[in-house]
Amino acid sequence: VMLPFGLQRLVDSHLRAHLSRKAMNKENFSFSTSNAGRSQSIDEGLDEQEESSTQSVIAERILRRRSLQIRDKQQAWQESPEGQKMEESRKSLPSYKERDSLLNAVSQNQVVVVSGETGCGKTTQLPQYILETEIEAARGAACNIICTQPRRISAMAVAERVAAERGEKIGESVGYKVRLEGMKGKDTRLLFCTTGILLRRLLVDRNLKGVTHVIVDEIHERGMNEDFLLIVLKDLLPRRPELRLILMSATLNAELFSSYFGGAPMIHIPGFTYPVRSLFLENILETTGYRLTSYNQIDNYGQDKMWKMQKQTLRKRKTQIASAVEEALMAADFREYSPRARESLSCWNPDSIGFNLIEHVLCHICRKERPGAVLVFMTGWDDINSLKDQLQAHSLLGDPSRVLLLACHGSMASVEQKLIFDKPEDGVRKIVLATNMAETSITINDVVFVVDCGKAKETSYDALNNTPCLLPSWISKASARQRKGRAGRVQPGECYHLYPRCVHDAFADYQLPELLRTPLQSLCLQIKSLQLGSISDFLSKALQPPEALSVQNAIEYLKMIGALDDNENLTVLGRNLSTLPVEPKLGKMLILGAIFNCLDPIMTIVAGVSVRDPFLMPFDKKDLAESAKAQFSARDFSDHLALVRAFEGWKDAERKQSGYEYCWRNFLSAQTLKAIDSLRKQFLYLLKDIGLVENVESCNTWSHDEHLIRAIICAGLFPGICSVVNKEKSISLKTMEDGAVLLHSNSVNAQESKIPFPWLVFNEKVKVNSVFLRDSTGVSDSVVLLFGGNVSRGGLDGHMKMLGGYLEFFMKPELAATYLSIKGELDELIQKK
Ligand code: CDP
Ligand code: MG
Repeated sequence: VMLPFGLQRLVDSHLRAHLSRKAMNKENFSFSTSNAGRSQSIDEGLDEQEESSTQSVIAERILRRRSLQIRDKQQAWQESPEGQKMEESRKSLPSYKERDSLLNAVSQNQVVVVSGETGCGKTTQLPQYILETEIEAARGAACNIICTQPRRISAMAVAERVAAERGEKIGESVGYKVRLEGMKGKDTRLLFCTTGILLRRLLVDRNLKGVTHVIVDEIHERGMNEDFLLIVLKDLLPRRPELRLILMSATLNAELFSSYFGGAPMIHIPGFTYPVRSLFLENILETTGYRLTSYNQIDNYGQDKMWKMQKQTLRKRKTQIASAVEEALMAADFREYSPRARESLSCWNPDSIGFNLIEHVLCHICRKERPGAVLVFMTGWDDINSLKDQLQAHSLLGDPSRVLLLACHGSMASVEQKLIFDKPEDGVRKIVLATNMAETSITINDVVFVVDCGKAKETSYDALNNTPCLLPSWISKASARQRKGRAGRVQPGECYHLYPRCVHDAFADYQLPELLRTPLQSLCLQIKSLQLGSISDFLSKALQPPEALSVQNAIEYLKMIGALDDNENLTVLGRNLSTLPVEPKLGKMLILGAIFNCLDPIMTIVAGVSVRDPFLMPFDKKDLAESAKAQFSARDFSDHLALVRAFEGWKDAERKQSGYEYCWRNFLSAQTLKAIDSLRKQFLYLLKDIGLVENVESCNTWSHDEHLIRAIICAGLFPGICSVVNKEKSISLKTMEDGAVLLHSNSVNAQESKIPFPWLVFNEKVKVNSVFLRDSTGVSDSVVLLFGGNVSRGGLDGHMKMLGGYLEFFMKPELAATYLSIKGELDELIQKK
């Protein structure tokens, strides 16, 4: 068809823009989800305006027509009876009173900081106010709002809610995008995504072309991604003067963020919550009549005396110790100070929060208290599952039909999710066991009782020993206040803090930002791939910059694994690693797995490590569960290989339609296995994009050579390695940084009396009282020699020097000699050539 010349050009340029957008999507921003094929709404119709004036006039007309259509649609909904009902309930939220001042501030300033109690309507309302206003002003088609959430579940839940408030299905004007899933369409104007997704988009779209508003939510959590994003955005703002940035926070430390952005205006939304009564341990013991296991002890100490003594010591300490380390020391001291009390009150068990006290409080609430949902804050998925099993197995809470026991954590299925928000039938008590994600990012309306164990699992990082630790540690005062606040949504509530008031008083005010307590390897890699210049210079611009030593460790690590060269430039490996949404060590395993043709099992291992362990260890069936897991190990001394077998067995069972039964029999989580399966598919497409996989369909024919798999695991996990010495009655394990280490009881290797490998490589160590290794795999000397570290760095000499340090440390001089002789032979060979 012949088109008039001007129009032809317009069509061409649109086609071009569309194609380049598609290419971009495929590469990065949009992971290959079922929706990936749909075109993006972002900046559609705007990009080629400059090309000719006719074209820009036409483009503008198209844009305007669409804006008007969008406006009509919004108006129709607002005038409908349902729409009006919805409007009423939205107007009752505290944020509504601030609507005009919020919108005003956003239009007058490039950056605005908004704070307000959880539930006041920041996340669901503020982006919507902006969207509605833009649509009313007939700018709907050009409007493009991105709102980031620290967690996938909140991105999905919020998008769902906002779509419903707008009388739409998700994927129309409101969509979401998280790592493995997304729902967005060509008309999506408001996108809720995880912070990680926006960072990945910045990789290919440095100026966020076409985006009109960026809203960064839950900044008070100070996650690493959020702090990182803020540095990038601060840099971007001068280049995009019309872009608006809104920072939202649940707590009142807005000044910090405001001053970071040169004194950006702050708006506080006064909240409404009903009063919540705080019960600390001493009150709980009194109210609930909790009996210590050995009642005499309390007589010996005298309840009051006990608290008083602890209080005094704490107070003395408090003046002595700088506030940053206070919390940690306090926790340690507290345990040491009163070991007998600790034994009796298992909530101070440092490994995990003891269940006795939580159970006791739950029983008390179920039996004695008025109706109302209970929200229990626990440390992690493991604890939540075990407690849930334990409560269910023993019907501890009375008639099971009157109790709705639910778990709430970052990676649950959406069905479960809905139950959490729904009101249960009359006479049924909803109890939600949650991690600290329920502190701010999701709101369960009918909660009247909160049980706060006082701890959260927090990664910390010991830069001196270069050891990451994942430990349940005491929360901050800000967190405790948040948790408490969750009880006063609908009526006055009660918060059971399972720790004494004096412990609370010694909590830090705010949690240490993640940037200061995690290894920085992935982040450094991202800085390099975003071409943000020198890593140290860039990180020095953070809200609270990390220690120089941590930065140096991360750079050294990236050099050691071959992701950076000696001048801190990204290597080819590094560039590829930065496109994979997993830690560098796991990415390296994937890449090597593809090169060495054993991708199938390696993908399972990497997905398993990044999702979570699919092996369930129910509290009261631990023996059975352990022996079920041991069957998968086939005595090959590898948790990773056990995982591969379990996964493949499940795939087989699925084909025979008996997946569920298989999981049940083998203590496996079907949900986790499904997540692993879908992550594997993502890996395949990403590796195909890199060019390492040709055909995503034929991956099942790949090698399952066990030796090769061990080698690749070692290549990825090195220097996560410990030496193995089999003693007569025990096995002694040692790492370079920590000295003696132990195996986590869930590891298949923990059941063995002898490990016929000189080394174990591991992907995580957890420091509790001792250092525990989680999943581990036995590897041979030659594998360590050939696959440990970056063989190409500084040639064989460099590699030798690096490995030499390890070998010497582990007192394996004969191994060093062998290596030297191989090297001699190789040198000779090279000379001859
Ligand atoms: O972000 P913020 O904590 O300030 O509040 P929000 O998430 O915007 O929630 C505002 C209100 O919307 C809450 O108080 C809930 O009543 C309601 N809401 C809901 O009913 N269902 C959801 N999935 C999310 C919010
Ligand atoms: Mg919110």
